[in-house]
Amino acid sequence: MIFPPTLPATGLGDDAVWHWFAQAIADRSAKLGDPLSLAHMDPPTPELAARLVGLNAQYNQNLLHAALSPFATEAEQCVIAWLAPYFGMRAGHMCAGSTLANLTALWAAREAGARAVVASADAHISVPKSAHILGMAYRAVPTDSGGRIDIAKLGDLHEAALVLTAGTTGRGAIDPLARHAARWLHVDAAWAGPLRLTSYADRLAGIECADSIAISAHKWLYQPKDSALVLFADPDMQSAISYGGSYLATPNIGVQGSRGAAAIPLLATLLAWGQSGLAARIERNMADAQQLADYLAAHDGAQLHQQPVTAVVNWRPRYRAFEAVAAALGPSASRTQINGDLWLRHVAANPHADIPAICARIAAALG
Ligand SMILES: Cc1ncc(COP(=O)(O)O)c(C=O)c1O
Repeated sequence: MIFPPTLPATGLGDDAVWHWFAQAIADRSAKLGDPLSLAHMDPPTPELAARLVGLNAQYNQNLLHAALSPFATEAEQCVIAWLAPYFGMRAGHMCAGSTLANLTALWAAREAGARAVVASADAHISVPKSAHILGMAYRAVPTDSGGRIDIAKLGDLHEAALVLTAGTTGRGAIDPLARHAARWLHVDAAWAGPLRLTSYADRLAGIECADSIAISAHKWLYQPKDSALVLFADPDMQSAISYGGSYLATPNIGVQGSRGAAAIPLLATLLAWGQSGLAARIERNMADAQQLADYLAAHDGAQLHQQPVTAVVNWRPRYRAFEAVAAALGPSASRTQINGDLWLRHVAANPHADIPAICARIAAALG
C-alpha cells in the first residue's frame, strides 16, 4: 500500500498531499477519453462539467435542504422538466446512480401494490438486489436469442412490478417496451435512455407507457459520478416515497438523505450542447459501434455475437485464445458472459474513440 499503515499523528500539509494525490489519480485511473478506450459505459467527463463539480463542491450544496441549495434545487427541477417529457414522464428526482434509481422506483411500485419483481435474466444486478432489500419476491424470465426478455414466458404479472431493460448491461438489448398487463412497469433505461433525445428515439418506442424510469446521467449523458434520474408518470408517487421530519422544511423524497448537486453539471452540459449537441455525440457513439461491428463481421478471425442495438458490441476470437486477445486489447474491451460463454464487450461511450485505431489493435491481436 502506498499510504502509511495507520493514521499519521502529524499531517503532511495540504500542498504536499494535493501534489501526491493529483499525480496518483492521473497515474492510476483509466483514461476514459483515450482514443483506444471503448470498454465500459463510463464516458470521460466534459471539461465544463468537471470544472463545475469542483466549484460546486466549494459550496457543498445539499439537496436535502432547499435553503442550502436554492440554485441546485432549481437546476434539478429544470433538468427534470426538460428531460421527463422525452419519456412521457411528469416528475422525478436525481440520485447517485441507477442502482438507487431502480431501488427507488421499485419502492414506489411496492407502495402502489406490487408484491413481486419480474425481470429478464439479463437485468442488471441492482434489480434482484432491490427486490431483496424491499422484501419482494423475485422472478427472472429467460431471454430470447437477441437478449430480450422472452414475453412468451412472462407469466402472470397482475401483482408484479415488471422491469424491462432499455440497453442491457452485457449486450445492450432492448426488451419489448409495453405494459404486458403488469401492475407496475419500470423501465431500467440506465444505459440507453438518452437515445430518446436522438434520431434513434424510436428504438425506445413504448417507454412512455412506463410508471417509472431509471436513467444514469453518468453513462450516456456524459456526466461525472454520481448522477442519475428516477422519473415517474404520476407525480404523486414522489409523495408516496417521501418522509417529513421536524427539522426538514420540505419532505425528503426518495432513498437518499443528504445529496449533492449533480443537476448543476448536467444542466450546464445540456445548456452548453443543446439537444442537437447531445444527440450528435450519442449518434457518433452509435456510428462508432456499427463501424466496429461491421469490421468484426467481415474479419474471418472474429465471431460477432449480434448487431449492436445500443452501441454495445460483443464478439470473440475464432482461432486465437480468448485471454491472450483480451489482454492485447487492454482498455479497448471488457468481457461479459452470454448464456454462460465468455465474450468480449465494447461499449461506445467515449466521444473521442478512434475506431480505425481500435480495429488495427484487434487485427494485431488476432494475428
Ligand atoms: C442496465 C443497467 N441498469 C442499472 C445499472 C446500475 O447503474 P449505476 O451503475 O448507475 O448504479 C447499470 C450499470 O451498468 C446498467 O447497465
